[in-house]
Formats: sequence, C-alpha cells, structure tokens
Amino acid sequence: MWRAVDLAKRLRAGQMARYAAALFLALSGELGTPEHIGRAPAPFTGIDDPAVASAWQALRTLQCERCHGQGYEGLSAPSIVEFARTQDHAAFVRTVLDGNGPRGMPAYRGNPLVDANIEGIYRYFAARADGSIGPTDRPAARTASGQG
Ligand code: HEC
Repeated sequence: MWRAVDLAKRLRAGQMARYAAALFLALSGELGTPEHIGRAPAPFTGIDDPAVASAWQALRTLQCERCHGQGYEGLSAPSIVEFARTQDHAAFVRTVLDGNGPRGMPAYRGNPLVDANIEGIYRYFAARADGSIGPTDRPAARTASGQG
C-alpha cells in the first residue's frame, strides 16, 4: 500500500515538473524577440496556403487534367496523386520539370507558371496524397469569385 502512495506522489511531482516546464516554454515564447518569431516557417494551412492556392490555379491554367484526368487521379496519363504518395520530393520535381518526352509527358522546365509554383505544386499533391486536401477542394478566394 505504501508503495502505491509513494508512486502517486512521485507521479504528481513529475506532473508538476512538466507543467512548470510547459509554463516556462510558453512564457519564454511570449517573451521571444521579434526576429526569433519572424524566422519560424509558416505552418501549412491546406488549400488556402498561399503557395498551394497559387499552385492550384497554375495547375488549372496548365490543364494537367487534360491528360491526368479529373482531380489528377488518372486518365490517359497516370494519377499524379498516387505518384506523390509513392515518390519523394526530388523525384516529383524532376518528373514535372524534365517530363518524359517519348512517353508523352511534357517537360515544364522554363514554363514561368511551373517555375514559380513548383514547391506549391509538390505541396498540393503531397497534401492530396495524405488526404489533407480533397479532390474537389478549391481555395476560398477562387470559390467566391467563381474562377477556374
Ligand atoms: C499531354 C498530356 C500531359 C499533360 C498536359 C501533362 N502530363 Fe504529366 N504525364 C503524361 C504522361 C503520358 C505521363 C506518363 C509518362 C510515363 O509513362 O513515364 C505523365 C506523367 C506524369 C507524372 C509521373 C506520373 C507517374 O506515375 O509516372 C507526373 C508527376 C506528372 N505527369 C505531372 C504533370 C503535371 C503537374 C502536369 C501539369 C503541369 C502534367 N503532368 C501535364 C502526360 C501529360
């Protein structure tokens, strides 16, 4: 019995220490210098992430769907979503920029829309692959204006 009481006490002490540590971290975060806060990478915010929203529009303009099908899930050309699920960032970027001429995939290197949006394009398809963006999700601004 005394063991159980002792354990409970120790657990409570451990919890207190964790609360104290969390409180300290929260406070030091609040008191962080502006430069420190400015350097934090922007968190991914889904389809309305500015880079992703811009990429979404670029993909529409470039009409990747013409070959890759509705939602880019495969037609005459394979699913880009599936490709993003199984390939890493480097392979994805290389494929879009270099294409595969003999097999009908255009090379998009030098296309200003692709060059400006390649990271957003990768993030869009990576998010499609992990389900955090759905096939019919569109950026809020585009829904309102009915563009695309
Ligand atoms: C003219 C038709 C066409 C268009 C337009 C097109 N693609 Fe493709 N794409 C293909 C074909 C065909 C393949 C398969 C090539 C192969 O078999 O290696 C392919 C392959 C790919 C792959 C690799 C898929 C895999 O499983 O190997 C990616 C990624 C890709 N395309 C992205 C894009 C993006 C992004 C766009 C728009 C910017 C686009 N494609 C536009 C025809 C097209």
